[in-house]
Amino acid sequence: MTQPRYYFNDDNHKVNLDFANLGFDYYPCPYRFEAVYELGVWRARGVVEETSMTLPEGSQCLHYGQQLFEGMKVNTGADGKVYAFRPAENSRRMNDGARYLQGPEVPEDLFIRGVEEVTRANLPYVPPYGSGASLYVRPFYLGIGDNVGVKPASKYVFRIFVTPVGPYFKGGFGPDQGKSFRVSTLDRAAPFGTGHIKAGGNYACSFKPGAEAKEQGFAEAIYLDPKEHRYIEEIGAANFLAFKGETLITPDSHSVLPSITRRSLLRIAREIYSWPVEERLIDKAELDEIEAAAACGTAAVITWIREVADGEKTWTFPFDQRWQQLYDSLVGIQTAAIDDPFGWRHEIS
Ligand code: PLP
Ligand code: COI
Repeated sequence: MTQPRYYFNDDNHKVNLDFANLGFDYYPCPYRFEAVYELGVWRARGVVEETSMTLPEGSQCLHYGQQLFEGMKVNTGADGKVYAFRPAENSRRMNDGARYLQGPEVPEDLFIRGVEEVTRANLPYVPPYGSGASLYVRPFYLGIGDNVGVKPASKYVFRIFVTPVGPYFKGGFGPDQGKSFRVSTLDRAAPFGTGHIKAGGNYACSFKPGAEAKEQGFAEAIYLDPKEHRYIEEIGAANFLAFKGETLITPDSHSVLPSITRRSLLRIAREIYSWPVEERLIDKAELDEIEAAAACGTAAVITWIREVADGEKTWTFPFDQRWQQLYDSLVGIQTAAIDDPFGWRHEIS
């Protein structure tokens, strides 16, 4: 275990990175947090330096996909403090996944301690307020051991790395930053499978549909419901939002990942703007009737969907000022530029 120490030549207390021009890329920060589970208990190793991990070759995470990950952002606030956004929600979602994959839950206090310690250890890498960048926090969970049978592991690793990131979709958010997406004929999740948990296998099987969309110049694939291929489900690794008249609508489906960003935006819509909100099936045919569309997620924040292509048919949507209002409220709360009426900011420094 290392005691992080930094020495500075100026008052900036930040590394010399071009924070304002970062993409969504892995940049190795000096420290990560790790805990291991064995014989029924979690033991925190604390903050460690090794970027590489050594795992037994028979590990369940390597062969059978017994693996989970999370994603959240840490921001420097307008008040100079450092905040995570709703980390307890990520902890709950990871534990929903752990129960499904028949592994032990990670206690919420261990999860939160990890987020805090890894952030404090890498403080010079937390992008400054106003840079538009964030520290992306990636907790993950691996079933490990000397094994060959198809069964859950008896040992687990919980690790968190962090990396400073800019926009997930190049250009980020704004009235001149509409993105095009293509409806895939392939699925990322089964109707009663694991789409609702953040298991790595859901993402490996999105590589082919994602690559096909990108080869044709689209930002990502759109997934329809895996049973009937009729209802809109996900936009790559982000949830779908649309305005139909006054109402903010979003899909309700077992195979969609329950996005913390989406839940937050629906609450902002309802309680700050008094807009009606509906979580329900959204038939692809309804694209003819909706006024505006967007993708949302930790990485994607809010991404304006300018175009949806499905075979020969395309729909185009204008930038809607309501996305701007939602974006300003969400990012304003995350970065302490405005009050946090919901208690979502988790202060770290
Ligand atoms: N949908 C999928 C498939 C995702 O991977 C993510 C990212 O976590 C999201 C939606 C958005 O979820 P959240 O807002 O919790 O980041
Ligand atoms: C996130 O938004 O945190 C995600 O996990 C999306 C992607 C980077 C997998």
